Amino acid sequence: MTAAADITPLEVTALPTVCFVGGGHMAASLIGGLLAAGLDRGRIRVAQRNAERAQALRLRFEIEVVADAATAVSGAAIVVLAVKPQQMAQALTQFKLAAGTTVISVAAGVRVASFARRLPGCSIIRAMPNTPALLRAGISGLYAPADTSATACAQAQTLLAAAGEVCWVDSEAQLDALTAVSGCGPAYYFKLTEVLRAAGTALGLDAAVSARLALQTFIGAARMAQAASEDVAVLRQQVTSKGGATEAALAVLESADLSRIFEDALRAAEQRSRERGDDLERSTSL
Ligand SMILES: NC(=O)c1ccc[n+]([C@@H]2O[C@H](COP(=O)([O-])OP(=O)(O)OC[C@H]3O[C@@H](n4cnc5c(N)ncnc54)[C@H](OP(=O)(O)O)[C@@H]3O)[C@@H](O)[C@H]2O)c1
Repeated sequence: MTAAADITPLEVTALPTVCFVGGGHMAASLIGGLLAAGLDRGRIRVAQRNAERAQALRLRFEIEVVADAATAVSGAAIVVLAVKPQQMAQALTQFKLAAGTTVISVAAGVRVASFARRLPGCSIIRAMPNTPALLRAGISGLYAPADTSATACAQAQTLLAAAGEVCWVDSEAQLDALTAVSGCGPAYYFKLTEVLRAAGTALGLDAAVSARLALQTFIGAARMAQAASEDVAVLRQQVTSKGGATEAALAVLESADLSRIFEDALRAAEQRSRERGDDLERSTSL
């Protein structure tokens, strides 16, 4: 991929016309972010085949939404592929793109080689956003093959920044590892919140009180971690007094080898992500 250090981020207002193929949840969050950041609504077009969803997008964003992907992509310098992975093969039969078009896919598991076969001459960039992108609080991984132009990379970076933070990975395989961390990460957080509240209830706290304590404690700690200049390990040490309650709790977690459990969990997620990509290539005509 093009080294992230080489990429000069663009102003959102400098983006050329962007066309979204698929106007669902992820497209809507990106569109909302782009408009909030100042992109002219006339520079956004969407292909959305579902008439009800198309009308909802028109009303919400006052942008052009058409059913036909070929009409929508015509003349667009950037095309964002935002259909479900299993819908991608069919979507790619509907239009052709001029060489030099920047194509950004947010579809999990659909590989660059599959797009390159269908969209010759285009710059293909894969993005892996995560669910908090829907609140513009996400983090997206980006991957582009080494020969991708700095302009296309900058366009992708600027576009995904509409949904939160952005980071680049060096190989397409690393998108599977990134998926295991940030793609699946919100579920780990939700699970830990569930576990914390259940444990509080087991200690005799009222269930509703325990639920509030668990939710707000994690949110507060996350905000502290984001605001602090210290590493999270230092923050942990700062709240762990020698011989205190936190130290006692952490000792139990460490004796259960929490690090190993998480590593195993992430290896399972990475492997499943890779297999899903293999399955997609086999089962659809990508
Ligand atoms: N949502 C997330 O948090 C998240 C996170 C990471 C990655 N992603 C990726 O983002 C992509 C979109 O996810 P999503 O949650 O936004 O899905 P979604 O809400 O189902 O949106 C996809 C939309 O595209 C429409 N569509 C499908 N094929 C089309 C075509 N050929 N022409 C025009 N419209 C078409 C679908 O219409 P129908 O309703 O008629 O099918 C649907 O409304 C997926 O590939 C997913 O892997 C999503």
